[in-house]
Amino acid sequence: MYDYFGIQAQIGITKHMGGLEATQKLLKWCEIDNSDHVLVIGSGNGVSAIKIHEMTGCNVLGIDLSEDMVLMAQKKLKSSETGVKFVVGNAENLEFSDNSFDVVISESVTGFTDKTKSIPEYHRVLKRGGFLGLNEVTWISNPSREVVEYCRRVMGLVAETKGVWLSLLRETGFKDINSLVNRMSQWKQMKGDFQLQSMDFFKIWGRFFNLYLHETEYRKSANRLAWEALHIPRGFSRYYGYGLYVGKK
Ligand SMILES: C[S@@+](CC[C@H](N)C(=O)[O-])C[C@H]1O[C@@H](n2cnc3c(N)ncnc32)[C@H](O)[C@@H]1O
Repeated sequence: MYDYFGIQAQIGITKHMGGLEATQKLLKWCEIDNSDHVLVIGSGNGVSAIKIHEMTGCNVLGIDLSEDMVLMAQKKLKSSETGVKFVVGNAENLEFSDNSFDVVISESVTGFTDKTKSIPEYHRVLKRGGFLGLNEVTWISNPSREVVEYCRRVMGLVAETKGVWLSLLRETGFKDINSLVNRMSQWKQMKGDFQLQSMDFFKIWGRFFNLYLHETEYRKSANRLAWEALHIPRGFSRYYGYGLYVGKK
């Protein structure tokens, strides 16, 4: 059986809340320019990391826990592209020396990690004066136990309220923290996803139907996820939002 990210990795889709607009805001707050070395945590299918390089000219290293995701991301690179690289890596245990990046970006990743390990790792690898930019699922108000349990079971996600995200950053030593919390809007999200994935959108669905029709394990896993999506706890969207958090080392 494929887990939540396994299903996505096979067809090459990943996303973060707020789409391209949220990424652009993070880049601005992190003051990224073409001389910066940027570490993109949980780079998934690579689309956002490549966009970050294209929009700013900075050097990007994307890491992801899943080898399948890294392979998908590498396939998206043009052979002439030297400013972006993708390798396997774990946010909770980064294989880089202290003070080695100007900026660390995590878009819908840190909520899937043990934050007491990953956030100190982001701080450690950042240069003094460097920025951490997070876009992470944020509870708009305290969620019911059913909603929290659903996210953990179906996606492995442990989201936090804005207050908790801010404390995690402050306690790790980040300063001058800027934040903005948004509600989830299905329509805006679809538009943002389409802007990021563009024509790949059709390839992704093509791969999905091919696997669904021809691979039993994939079909069973996708059916299980669809069942979960149909049984989402009531009032879910009341709590579910995303927060942009930027802090300086
Ligand atoms: C929701 S996807 C977001 C991907 C990408 N940031 C984007 O915006 O499309 C989360 C990604 O985080 C990766 N991931 C989860 N836990 C991780 C960890 N401990 N270290 C590195 N990557 C991780 C998953 O494999 C997945 O590709």
